[in-house]
Amino acid sequence: MKAVILAGGEATRLRPLTCNTPKMMVPVLNRPFLEHLVRYLKGHRIVDVVLAVGKLSGQLHDYLGDGSRLGVSIACSEEPFPMGTAGAVKNAESLLDDSFLVFNGDIFTDIDLTAMIRAHRQNRAMATLALTPVEDPTIYGVVETDDRGRVTRFSEKPRREEVTTNVINAGIYILEPAVLSYIKPDAFSMFERDVFPQLLEKGHAIHGYQSSEYWIDIGTPDKYLRLQHDLLRRSVCDGGTVIATESSLHPSARIEGPVMIGRACSLEANCTIKGPAVLGAGCRVEEEAVVEGAMIWQDCTIGRGARLRNCLVASSCSVGEESEVLDGCILGDEVLIGRRNKLSNGIRIWPGRSIQPDTISF
Ligand code: GTP
Repeated sequence: MKAVILAGGEATRLRPLTCNTPKMMVPVLNRPFLEHLVRYLKGHRIVDVVLAVGKLSGQLHDYLGDGSRLGVSIACSEEPFPMGTAGAVKNAESLLDDSFLVFNGDIFTDIDLTAMIRAHRQNRAMATLALTPVEDPTIYGVVETDDRGRVTRFSEKPRREEVTTNVINAGIYILEPAVLSYIKPDAFSMFERDVFPQLLEKGHAIHGYQSSEYWIDIGTPDKYLRLQHDLLRRSVCDGGTVIATESSLHPSARIEGPVMIGRACSLEANCTIKGPAVLGAGCRVEEEAVVEGAMIWQDCTIGRGARLRNCLVASSCSVGEESEVLDGCILGDEVLIGRRNKLSNGIRIWPGRSIQPDTISF
């Protein structure tokens, strides 16, 4: 089965991380998010991928090539303007012939796609939607089903008093090609708002495939951070540490796992890395600095005595001596924080900005 990955969104909520980097290329445990998604699809024997993008970024193109390096075949479908989730799939119609899978490009999940495909075929459904339970359904598209699993109603971002179930649309669909005839060509449209309700109205069978396997979308910084914390806890065994080659650790550097340290990093005397934490390739953590719960992309320098806690730091940043970057703060690429600043409460600093020494205490 072919998969269409939707990767043409603006990714505004992840800015400034996504100012220079497409959402699919943001690193998760030091690999582009896209690579995790492709490996997952491959694990379910899905190796024909159509990437629906607004404009193919140079980074995505360079990374993907034709997909052979990742063991899959990748075709790109570019949109002349943002066409929405359904419009983007319609735009790729010429690349689709049989039943196909649609995947929101910012989802990380363990949902059993093989079983979902089997259920779709057994039910002879026109569309099968993966459904997942969440704590707060009011920010998602809620999906109601009957006792045979057939979808009866959609409600987008319902108010709390309207909520009838905590089961939401997980952003993964299996569709029959006939669904494409319900999508207007060359126009913006969304599956959940414009297409699925129409299918229901016409009496087509839409089934839900409910799963409580791990599911998260990396649409917001807190969820992007949470995914990496979750993956570190489960993949770096027993609170251990993964250290890539060419890294140098001073004997007095303290590491409390789970921690992942990229290639060619340098950890200087008495610094502390407290997991869950990730350092990208080429980072330097200077003497007495403390990094705790943070995700740092490549080529960053954390100055002497600086402190980073539960924050996100993009590539080539420098945090000055004794500065603090704390809870929920995000630094875009090439941000320079001069010494003795304190950033907290989710401050976001845009790429290339410099903060002079001793100026921010927030
Ligand atoms: P925000 O701007 O932060 O809301 O992010 P987003 O633009 O990625 O939107 P959202 O999280 O709602 O999108 C979910 C998935 O659909 C993401 O993988 C997007 O890349 C994708 N997507 C959203 N709109 C479009 C579109 O117009 N075209 C394509 N090809 N994909 C889209």
